[in-house]
Amino acid sequence: MLPLATAIELIHTASLVHDDILDQSKIRRGVSTANVKYGPQIAVLLGDYLFAKAFQLVAENHYGDEVSLVLSKLVKNLCIGEISQDRSLFQVPSLTKYYDKINLKTAVFLASCCRLGGIVAELNDRETDSLTTYGVNLGLAFQIVDDLLDFFGDSNMTGKALGGDLKSGVITLPVLRALQVSDKSELLREIVTRNNVSDADIIGAIDIIKKSDALDYCKSRAYAHIAAAIINLPPSISESTNFMLDKIADFVVNRNW
Ligand code: IPE
Ligand code: MG
Ligand code: MG
Repeated sequence: MLPLATAIELIHTASLVHDDILDQSKIRRGVSTANVKYGPQIAVLLGDYLFAKAFQLVAENHYGDEVSLVLSKLVKNLCIGEISQDRSLFQVPSLTKYYDKINLKTAVFLASCCRLGGIVAELNDRETDSLTTYGVNLGLAFQIVDDLLDFFGDSNMTGKALGGDLKSGVITLPVLRALQVSDKSELLREIVTRNNVSDADIIGAIDIIKKSDALDYCKSRAYAHIAAAIINLPPSISESTNFMLDKIADFVVNRNW
């Protein structure tokens, strides 16, 4: 399991190095991002290096075609998710579009992690599919909470700047909810769809979102996915594994970092 888990961690890190270039993020995990420290040119190559290193580890350890296929599809879907997000910056997505995007950019990743665990542990197809469904729902909940933390988090805890999504034009679930229910939704729509907003505008938009029920709404959506994740844990897995996967689900939705 260990080389494969390491490969997945490298892919995750690579995707974040590239994501920080796309999002022009300056801080990640409380320190300067690679794009700030070395410039975007080197950061592109650093991300490429990490992707290549991950696939090298997988090849060296002979996991077989199925594992390679899951991993390559994971990276492809992640790219499609990030590209589709980048092509629709400063546009208000439908709820379905929002879910499609977070599915591709995050849920497929966690689903693949779980699927690979099932494959390498030689679970049967039904159990591997259930574990994959656990991962999809865990991923959807993870990204909804990530999107919430961008507004409601504490940057000392998240290690990232707050309000970054709005600034870079990424319109997420808390905004969609506030647009639906706030009596200031017209003003909010005007701010979030305008390229080049000022910091004061961002603060105004965050205030509108905070005064709506977006936090409770998004939390309840995330909890629903966590419930769907847990219910899909295959009954055959050991009690201790079940306990850990249950704890991970609980952490994803209750975390503040
Ligand atoms: C990026 O999503 C996650 C990837 C698919 C690489 P975000 O842009 O929302 O993630 P953060 O907020 O920068 O961590
Ligand atoms: Mg980002
Ligand atoms: Mg991003």
